[in-house]
Amino acid sequence: MLRIEKLSVHYGAVQALNAVSIDIAQGECVALLGANGAGKTTLLRAISGLERPREGRIALAGQDLDGIAPEQRVRMGLAHAPERRRIFPGLTVLENLEVATAAWRGLKGSMDDDLARVFALFPRLKERRGQLGWSLSGGEQQMLAIGRALMSRPRLLLLDEPSLGLAPRLSEEVYAQLATINGMNLTMLVVEQNTTMALSVASRAYVIEHGDVVLEGAAAELMDHPRIREAYLGA
Ligand SMILES: Nc1ncnc2c1ncn2[C@@H]1O[C@H](COP(=O)(O)OP(=O)(O)O)[C@@H](O)[C@H]1O
Ligand SMILES: [Mg+2]
Repeated sequence: MLRIEKLSVHYGAVQALNAVSIDIAQGECVALLGANGAGKTTLLRAISGLERPREGRIALAGQDLDGIAPEQRVRMGLAHAPERRRIFPGLTVLENLEVATAAWRGLKGSMDDDLARVFALFPRLKERRGQLGWSLSGGEQQMLAIGRALMSRPRLLLLDEPSLGLAPRLSEEVYAQLATINGMNLTMLVVEQNTTMALSVASRAYVIEHGDVVLEGAAAELMDHPRIREAYLGA
């Protein structure tokens, strides 16, 4: 579904990603782990077309994304729930969800089923659909960010630190629904500093440090890997 080959991204003189290669098959949930500043957000932004790589290639379902604008990538099936949610503050919950249907509206029927799916996953959003986005709690905003991403009818869902700033109980609630979403056969790439949470839903993971992939493997194996336990699990 997604193939990234030797991707390098720079910010001026700073190299944020160094020849990163990642493969995600249809239906997989893959985690990208790493400390603050490792390059995780940069990778998602490059996939979405928000950062321009200096080298390397990204292909979605076999189609090279080079030169394709971010809006067109959304139409091709990429959805990005960004770091710190980026809820549109002046819009209601419902309006935040409707905005994301621009990718297909007018071409492919009504949004009723899409809304029903999001509200079934996150009933609190249904209860709060008339409230302004800024008035939601952190956990509810994260649910809205994920719901909004789903409204674009993606083939690949990119999630940037969905547990960031959430109490453990809420993180678990969000992650339970991410597992449900992956169970609907939606392919996902989830970026996290919260290794335990991410490995609970992913089947495979990559670890990046200073822009380099330093480790990759099955989630169950990485959970027991000495380097992971030492660096990320406080063992
Ligand atoms: N807009 C930017 N301009 C300059 N440097 C940046 C910018 N965004 C990120 N960086 C740098 O790139 C590196 C990777 O950042 P980022 O992808 O945000 O890491 P992560 O999401 O893993 O915390 C860091 O060294 C960060 O300081
Ligand atoms: Mg980040």
